[in-house]
Amino acid sequence: MPRPPSSFATARLVGRMPRADDGPAVLASYAGDPAVTRYLSWRAYDRVEPLNAFLRECMADWEKGSGHLAWLLCLKGTDTPIGSIGVTLESGGRAMFGYVLARKFWGHGFAAEALTFLVDWTLAQPKLYRAWAFCDVENPASVRVMEKAGLVREGILRRWHVCPTLGPEPRDCVVCAKVK
Ligand SMILES: CC(C)(COP(=O)(O)OP(=O)(O)OC[C@H]1O[C@@H](n2cnc3c(N)ncnc32)[C@H](O)[C@@H]1OP(=O)(O)O)[C@@H](O)C(=O)NCCC(=O)NCCS
Repeated sequence: MPRPPSSFATARLVGRMPRADDGPAVLASYAGDPAVTRYLSWRAYDRVEPLNAFLRECMADWEKGSGHLAWLLCLKGTDTPIGSIGVTLESGGRAMFGYVLARKFWGHGFAAEALTFLVDWTLAQPKLYRAWAFCDVENPASVRVMEKAGLVREGILRRWHVCPTLGPEPRDCVVCAKVK
């Protein structure tokens, strides 16, 4: 499997690996906000300790170069996380993305900017053919992010994903991809 860059820069953002001391800033920025986690696979954190454990897992995945490779997104010139984007490199040459931003940074095109960079990186790798993501059918802003990054809507994955903030049952999702 190709190894994604451990850091990257776009016009306005820097993506960097999480560090052991990021927990409090990530909690304050986005991970503690139930409006942010509404359509995500995890519930908002109310304590920093489990978030620290998650960040340590992310760091271990980076060391192994497999699993879910996550970057924290910071505005250029700062080191404070405003969100995160991650990729899972799957067998068969697929790269699956997920992203999240703190509420006060919604609506500025930041998620699309980071996703565009990483989708372009993905499809420049000889053995990666499909950059894809899914989101809840009730999350149109996320569908737009995928479209702005060049992904094309392929359909609905029915009963695909549980959003614990909303309830225990799997929900329908929109799936989008860019392939070569
Ligand atoms: C989804 C999310 C990442 C979007 O990030 P963002 O940086 O605000 O997105 P952008 O500014 O790039 O684009 C949002 C687009 O959605 C559109 N949009 C926003 N709310 C919308 C709505 N209710 N209906 C339709 N379109 C909507 C915006 O108009 C914009 O499109 P435009 O640029 O063509 O005008 C952000 O809202 C977020 O972090 N949400 C919580 C976590 C989450 O749901 N992540 C996705 C999980 S799959």
